[in-house]
Amino acid sequence: MGLDPVPNASSRQVQLADDRRPGAASAGSARERRRAFEALSEEIRRCTRCPLSASRTQAVVYRGSFAPRIVFVGEAPGAEEDRQGVPFVGRSGKLLDRAVASLGPALGEYGVLNLLKCRPPGNRFDPSAARTCRPYLERQLALLRPRALVPLGARALAALDPTAAPILSVAGAPRRAAVGWLFPLIHPAAALRSRRRKERWEHDVRALESWLGSSRLEIL
Ligand code: URA
Repeated sequence: MGLDPVPNASSRQVQLADDRRPGAASAGSARERRRAFEALSEEIRRCTRCPLSASRTQAVVYRGSFAPRIVFVGEAPGAEEDRQGVPFVGRSGKLLDRAVASLGPALGEYGVLNLLKCRPPGNRFDPSAARTCRPYLERQLALLRPRALVPLGARALAALDPTAAPILSVAGAPRRAAVGWLFPLIHPAAALRSRRRKERWEHDVRALESWLGSSRLEIL
């Protein structure tokens, strides 16, 4: 499997917070956008556009604030997420939650979602399903309008910035991509697999904290 899971995906349509054109897809009051987000979440829960819908227990849509400053973007739900219907609630999620807690007030409001909304059988990432699912990601981000995205791992990074170098050479530093500001991190599952990667994860989370704390993000 290549690094780019959605080779035909257009990253142009993802709108981050710096796109506040009147009439843009993301326009509207916070209340209207929240209502639209809830309607979209319901649409995702009912989705049958790809074969993953037949094997899922339930779709896994989003967790977090409806006005997030930062959105963490993972790959796909695992077994526990499929069971609970919530992203990042398994082992990787526990590590992510510890990182989030350690970021403290520097983080502000945040959200968590995945490229794929349904668990792929055997946790094998499905690029074709990711292409089908892509519009949901774009619509979610257009409504949430975060200031920056934190892609977790190579697949999320490649989906949000197909031009990016491999994850290990870009994780832990902010980068301006066509979609807006990204701060890639390695996937927490990778951090759970080796001590070296765990150290890298912790180091990069501290770098994220400095970046967020510098508050440059508010004026970019
Ligand atoms: N890994 C992911 O990428 N997403 C989840 O929700 C859980 C594990």
